Amino acid sequence: EMTSNNQPEVNIGLVGHVDHGKTTLVEALSGEWTDQHSEEMKRGISIRLGYADATFRKCPECDDQSAYTVAEECDEHGVETEHLRTVSFVDAPGHETLMATMLSGAAIMDGAVLVISATEDVPQAQTEEHLMALDIIGIENIVIAQNKIDLVDAEQARENHQQIQEFVEGTVAEGAPIVPISAQAGANVDLLIETVEEHIPTPERDPDADPEMLVARSFDINRPGTTWDSLLGGVLGGSLAQGRLEPDDEIELRPGREVEEGGQSEWEPVTTTIRSLQAGGRSVEEATPGGLLGVGTGLDPSLTKGDGLAGQIAGPPGTLPPVHQQFTMDVQLLDRIVGDEADEVDPISTNEPLMLTVGTATTVGTVTSARDQEAEVALKRPVCAREGAKIAINRRVGTRWRLIGIGTLRE
Ligand code: GTP
Repeated sequence: EMTSNNQPEVNIGLVGHVDHGKTTLVEALSGEWTDQHSEEMKRGISIRLGYADATFRKCPECDDQSAYTVAEECDEHGVETEHLRTVSFVDAPGHETLMATMLSGAAIMDGAVLVISATEDVPQAQTEEHLMALDIIGIENIVIAQNKIDLVDAEQARENHQQIQEFVEGTVAEGAPIVPISAQAGANVDLLIETVEEHIPTPERDPDADPEMLVARSFDINRPGTTWDSLLGGVLGGSLAQGRLEPDDEIELRPGREVEEGGQSEWEPVTTTIRSLQAGGRSVEEATPGGLLGVGTGLDPSLTKGDGLAGQIAGPPGTLPPVHQQFTMDVQLLDRIVGDEADEVDPISTNEPLMLTVGTATTVGTVTSARDQEAEVALKRPVCAREGAKIAINRRVGTRWRLIGIGTLRE
């Protein structure tokens, strides 16, 4: 319906082990959403950042959990349902993947739904990794969806519930509500919506502050062979942490681009103008904080191609946090490597390479000095971040980067 404001206002991470049912759940929650996509989206200019947006609604006449729905009309009462809010679901791939993908996604999550299949022992590998990532980034508003409940009997469901409770004890998800659902059959999805409405509130944000957008993806949306006179500018995908953006606003991106100067390379900010804004699957005249956002710019699309500007921050020129080519961080190491009971975490040593996730940015750095609870690193690609920013620290173990600790940026 065109009258209600369907601009998403909150980002909810959808995390969990591969095949536990994230995609199926999003399908159940975003129902008719694909029909609402603008022409632009249908032509493939989607920001492909998360799964989808979903608009939660409530029947004014139902007096139990069945009031909660994504349908515009209540089946039972035949009345129009009321708009509650639109949420963006942020993807966290469950495949054998870099933890960094999850961690950089977590930087823009306001809360998370952790999907756990009732048919398997708890925890499976990515269930544990994803919960650890939420713990580290400090995502406190968590709802657990105990999925595939249609495939187990009552006894197995209880046992699995018990395992989930024990698994989350002592983590950020301790005490989180556990909602048994069947995403496939659509069973209890109403209760899940009600629980998300209660436990994952839209955070307070300052719309009057200087806008600050965390860029999670960037794209070149032109078809191969497009001639220069019909070339569209680069597109940024991400989330506005604060402030508002409008078409024609001037923005700066930091760290920006690498330029060669007499054999030396350095990074300089890039400046551009906003040409279009897309939120909730349509063009908008003003973007407000929260939710996934697509920003069409005047940037050379070769800069934005293939996530070229992912991990950067966008905002009015001169207002963004400083750019660091090296920094010192306070370090708190984990006792053991996530997903590997046996492997203790050795102290960080000088000259070792680390993969660091700061906000939506992932960068590799070399340790230039390591003491007990601090480390100094020199980065391959600089990051734009404030003092106090949280840093996920990953070490190469075998063929994979593994999460070993958490850092805090010092000046
Ligand atoms: P990735 O995107 O690969 O990480 O997996 P996913 O977590 O998105 O899982 P997906 O939604 O693809 O579901 C995996 C399989 O489980 C599919 O074959 C689904 O049809 C099935 N499935 C998901 N939810 C349910 C459920 O509630 N009940 C039953 N019986 N099957 C389900």
